[in-house]
Amino acid sequence: MDIAFKFLLIIHLLSLVLGGATGVAMPIVMRKAAAAGPEARAPLLAIGGRLQLNSRIAAGLLVLTGVLMLWLRYGGDALALGPWFVAKLGFVVVIVAAMATTILAGPRRANPRVFGAITGLSMLAVVICSVMTFG
Ligand code: HEM
Repeated sequence: MDIAFKFLLIIHLLSLVLGGATGVAMPIVMRKAAAAGPEARAPLLAIGGRLQLNSRIAAGLLVLTGVLMLWLRYGGDALALGPWFVAKLGFVVVIVAAMATTILAGPRRANPRVFGAITGLSMLAVVICSVMTFG
């Protein structure tokens, strides 16, 4: 059981690295794409699409491994972990809702600056809440 938990935590933290790296790279690539001519824009937008897929995979893995760890070590009782953990889950919901909005509304209707600010600040809050809960 313990080795399974450790394995999940490693995946959890690697997913955080993947999501964080994507969050840093994405605005740089999109700024370059906006300023580029038509020929350079297409490959940059393709990179942006790949980064977006990576961030969705990272978010999916974070939620999946998080739920499994919560179940394995804490019997699935989120409330027992205290207010910081409940706050963490609240910010996770904000990130998932923002991602779902861009999928449902279509990337062109979602303002990338607003999306980046919401998900970036929420990621920061999630990490702070995680450390306050477990650190
Ligand atoms: C954006 C999503 C998430 C991020 C960025 C994130 C981040 C983190 C970080 C940084 C840690 C390590 C904390 C430390 O050891 O000090 C951690 C641990 C943990 N997270 Fe997450 N997390 C996310 C989603 C979730 C979700 C959705 C759940 C559960 C429903 C969850 C449950 C846990 C658990 C149970 C641990 C480890 C507990 C332990 O070491 O005993 N996480 N998370």
